[in-house]
Amino acid sequence: MDVKTTIRSIPGWPIEGVVFRDLTTLMQNPQAYGQSCDILYERYKDQDVGKIVGIDARGFVFGAVLAYKLGIGFVPVRKKGKLPWNTIEETYTLEYGEDTLEIHEDAVEKGEKVVIVDDLIATGGTIGATVKLVKKLGADIVECAFVVELPELKGREQIQGCNVFAITEFD
Ligand code: PRP
Ligand code: HPA
Repeated sequence: MDVKTTIRSIPGWPIEGVVFRDLTTLMQNPQAYGQSCDILYERYKDQDVGKIVGIDARGFVFGAVLAYKLGIGFVPVRKKGKLPWNTIEETYTLEYGEDTLEIHEDAVEKGEKVVIVDDLIATGGTIGATVKLVKKLGADIVECAFVVELPELKGREQIQGCNVFAITEFD
């Protein structure tokens, strides 16, 4: 099964000029959803990963399943104001807007090996802020993993020095 073919493209949403890649159609297809999670599991199963860091909100859909399959813990990076305990935060620019992400300050250990998971990398603002948060806490980022990369938006440039993996990409 080619998971890419299950992703719906919506021209002009949420603003004119953007072609939105809608992963809900992948998620609602059990073969595509399962295969996406399996690809990530096969990639990280022998890498001694200590935790999966998943990004609010769609990174949770893939990251939590991966953590479960690997038998390790899951750490949510959340939009500001959602986490109840002590946090550190980073503000970043989105493809359309600005936002702030937070992580609990005790969520990962110094030197712990983590994989960061999100559904999609576009401009890289979101993953850039997340990488900064995880690095501030001293964890060791094995790789940043995505289901979809939009390479034209050059998101990788926000996280130079980090390994990046994407299951599929759209021009
Ligand atoms: C989307 C997507 C990524 C991010 C990618 O999330 O799920 O997290 O944007 O864009 P970037 O690479 O340009 O930063 P969004 O902020 O829309 O939040 P959501 O998951 O809560 O819908
Ligand atoms: N699809 C899903 N999420 C996104 C996109 C997109 O095309 N661009 C920025 N976040």
